[in-house]
Amino acid sequence: MIRLFRSIEGDLDDDIIKVADKIIEDEKQKGHVKLADRLKGILERNVTAHKSFQKKLKPLLPEGTVIPTDKRNNIPLALLIERDNLRHEMVLPKLVETKIQRIEKEYVARERLAHFGLRPRQKILFYGSPGCGKSMSAERIAWNIGLPFLKVRFEAIISSYLGESATNLKKLFESLKSYPCVLLLDEFDFIAKARSSGQDVGEMHRVVNILLNLLEDYEAPGLLIATTNLEGTLDKASFRRFDDIIEIPKPGKEEIVRLLRTTLSSIKVSKIIIWGEIATKMKGFSAALVVKVANDAAKTAVIHNQKIVEKEHLLKAFSENVKYNK
Ligand SMILES: Nc1ncnc2c1ncn2[C@@H]1O[C@H](COP(=O)(O)OP(=O)(O)OP(=O)(O)O)[C@@H](O)[C@H]1O
Ligand SMILES: [Mg+2]
Repeated sequence: MIRLFRSIEGDLDDDIIKVADKIIEDEKQKGHVKLADRLKGILERNVTAHKSFQKKLKPLLPEGTVIPTDKRNNIPLALLIERDNLRHEMVLPKLVETKIQRIEKEYVARERLAHFGLRPRQKILFYGSPGCGKSMSAERIAWNIGLPFLKVRFEAIISSYLGESATNLKKLFESLKSYPCVLLLDEFDFIAKARSSGQDVGEMHRVVNILLNLLEDYEAPGLLIATTNLEGTLDKASFRRFDDIIEIPKPGKEEIVRLLRTTLSSIKVSKIIIWGEIATKMKGFSAALVVKVANDAAKTAVIHNQKIVEKEHLLKAFSENVKYNK
């Protein structure tokens, strides 16, 4: 009976749990109080384990929430990325890590802050060279604070019909007021481009101005995160609308070593590799390229039926990828 109970899992109102409850009750009636208590303990653990597991998987939007769509094609204006698909294991220099943690801590402490008339950092801009973790930082924040993650779909927002892009943007921002989430405006540089191109491209120009106004008036319970590669081209008007602006730099030597080792953590690696030596060669690589080198090395080892990643595998992967280092 105990073995059977250990294999039961479910939500409180699942039939299987109701049947299990009934069995416990019967055992009690029969005077088997000890057994009944033991079964109850097992059942409670399994029900809660299941529930917290579900909770972990689903900081989804509240039931019944619909992401607004564009009127003409009915395409959602933002994409919800499931928690399981959020990238969150990052390697960052300590200083940057601290800055990102501050955002997370302030959000978690938002009610305490409100007590003192203070607001958490809510509008964040990440900038820096490609492949160093700007988009990933946004995902990791959502993962850590357990909020649903929405990525704005500019291709759905921008309409060729006069005025519709503005309506789309307003609709999306309005909907953010009703549920907390992390909204990512990825590759926000298009704003800078539109503003610096000098030409009045009509609708695009309007969209940019409206977006800047919406940013200014943002009054939602969640976080808004924008990313850009182009620090130089974003003007003051864009910059001053953010509560925090954080550079995500290329990995230094220490971070390169950590990136290599964490990427290779699920496979055996030779003990005689001098990590610092390899990391020095990879100076200037983006984090994405370091991860690629580590994965390529692991794949070579596996394909050749070698159970261990050797220095040679890493050096080969390095020389094959060095051309991508820009
Ligand atoms: N700091 C990091 N720690 C761990 N992995 C990283 C880091 N930065 C980048 N990566 C790896 O590189 C990939 C790309 O990262 P990401 O998409 O966040 O880059 P990005 O800065 O947004 O680049 P882009 O400017 O091209 O959009 C990630 O999926 C991950 O594998
Ligand atoms: Mg990105």
